[in-house]
Amino acid sequence: MKLFLDTADVSQIREACSWGVISGVTTNPTLVSKQKNMDFKELVKEICEIVDGPVSAEVVSLDVDGMVKEAMEFSKIDPRVVIKIPMTKEGMSATKRLSSEGIRVNVTLVFSAAQAILAAEAGATYISLFMGRLDDVGEDSIAVLENIVAMKENYGFESQILAASIRHPYHVVQAALVGADVATVPFAVLEKLFNHPLTDVGIKRFLEDWNRYRNRG
Ligand code: G3P
Repeated sequence: MKLFLDTADVSQIREACSWGVISGVTTNPTLVSKQKNMDFKELVKEICEIVDGPVSAEVVSLDVDGMVKEAMEFSKIDPRVVIKIPMTKEGMSATKRLSSEGIRVNVTLVFSAAQAILAAEAGATYISLFMGRLDDVGEDSIAVLENIVAMKENYGFESQILAASIRHPYHVVQAALVGADVATVPFAVLEKLFNHPLTDVGIKRFLEDWNRYRNRG
C-alpha cells in the first residue's frame, strides 16, 4: 500500500517527502483554504515541484461542464495533477469524459460500496473512501473498505482504492490489511506512524552501551 500526504501545506509536504515514505499528495478545498496567502494554481504547481507522484486537486463546480473546464485548467499545471471530483451524477459524467481523454480522476466523498462501483464504471483512477467520517456517523469504515476491495478483485476494476479521512495510525494498518492501494494521511498521523516507545528505548540503550564501549578503560 502506498502512502499519500493529505495536506496543502507546502512545508509539511517538503518535510514528509524528505523522509522517503510519501508517494503522492491529496488536497481538498478545506485544506487549500488554510493556505490563505497562496493562489490555488501556484500552490498546486509548488506542490508538484516537491512531490514525485500524483497530486490531487479538487474542482468546486457542481455542473458537468464546469467540472470538466476546471479539470482541463488544472491538468495544464503539471502532468502530476489528478482531478478530484465528487461522487454525484454530474461528477460521474465528468469523470467519464475526463477518463476517456486520459485525464486521471480521483473520485472523492465516497461512503459506500455502491458509490465505489459507480466511480469504477466511470473510469476513476482513484476512489477515495472517507473512513473517519464514516466512523463519525457510527458506520464501520473498515467493513465498507473491505467490500470495495472485494468488488475490485471480483471484477478486475483498475481503479485504485484510496483510504481517506484517516484519523489515526490504526486506520492506516486496517486499510493495508484489507488491501487498499493507497492511504492518504494527515501530517500528524504520518508522524505518529513512526512512533514506538521501544524504538526510543532501544536507541537510548544502544547509544549508552556504545559510549561505555568507547570510553572503556
Ligand atoms: O482529503 C479528503 C479527506 O482525507 C478528508 O479528511 O479528516 O476532513 O474527514 P477529513
